[in-house]
Amino acid sequence: STSSGMAQNPSNMEPLRKPLVPVKGIPLIKYFAETMEQLQNFTAWPDDVLISTYPKSGTTWMSEIMDMIYQGGKLDKCGRAPVYARIPFLEFSCPGVPPGLETLKETPAPRIIKTHLPLSLLPQSLLDQKIKVIYVARNAKDVVVSYYNFYKMAKLHPDPGTWESFLENFMDGKVSYGSWYQHVKEWWELRRTHPVLYLFYEDMKENPKREIKKILEFLGRSLPEETVDLIVHHTSFKKMKENPMANYTTIPTEVMDHTISPFMRKGTIGDWKNTFTVAQSEHFDAHYAKIMTGCDFTFRCQI
Ligand code: A3P
Repeated sequence: STSSGMAQNPSNMEPLRKPLVPVKGIPLIKYFAETMEQLQNFTAWPDDVLISTYPKSGTTWMSEIMDMIYQGGKLDKCGRAPVYARIPFLEFSCPGVPPGLETLKETPAPRIIKTHLPLSLLPQSLLDQKIKVIYVARNAKDVVVSYYNFYKMAKLHPDPGTWESFLENFMDGKVSYGSWYQHVKEWWELRRTHPVLYLFYEDMKENPKREIKKILEFLGRSLPEETVDLIVHHTSFKKMKENPMANYTTIPTEVMDHTISPFMRKGTIGDWKNTFTVAQSEHFDAHYAKIMTGCDFTFRCQI
């Protein structure tokens, strides 16, 4: 069944930790790369909504918020299945587990779909049909630290190596899904021609209610004030960390080992300071300034 999702028979799976496979120059998890051709035939429905993010930017948080909005704040309905079964992951593929495309076929409209794909790999239908997009961006320094810890615990990724080498790979776009810099910029540019609500993780932390109201307006929906407050409460880091339908603990340990690093790890702004050395931070900032010149929006690495 779809709802059991990844919880099926991991013993049948091919070995994990395969090297990334480039597709149009974008390094991807091998099984995701293998599904790219088929994915281009995906047909979007007009009332689909896409949650798009670079990994580790608040995808799961936004997914829970969106499902709560769609379910009118009904907690029992949001508890019907793990988040990865409620919000199909478009490009997901892994031996022995239903792929994203299959989960999507079983999901009734209106669908909420998750992707991390850069625009060059996004199925054309999503663009042609002018599917509403909610993009969540998070500052690069917290993303790379979160990503490093995620690589360690989520074994569809190759071994991350040392922090030092992972940081260099991230800066060079040599991690799964490629360049963070390119990703945040191209989805920002898409706003000119496509309905995109571009949100920031840091703004969501600062004032989740304000950001949820932006989402409601973008979707043309409304909810009673108490329901919005309930959504804020239910989607707090603390609540989601203890919610098995949101925290990925239903995935077998062979695939995600929460004893190495929990999926719901810290959920804060500025945790990068606990991992970066001062020298690494300076090196990163200098490279960042070069690669992000001319960018007309900014990120907050602390608030
Ligand atoms: P950290 O590793 O910094 O803790 P994604 O869902 O895109 O993979 O992002 C995961 C990151 O979002 C993790 O960051 C995770 O802890 C954080 N996160 C998940 N739910 C959250 C919430 N409700 N509030 C704040 N951060 C959350």
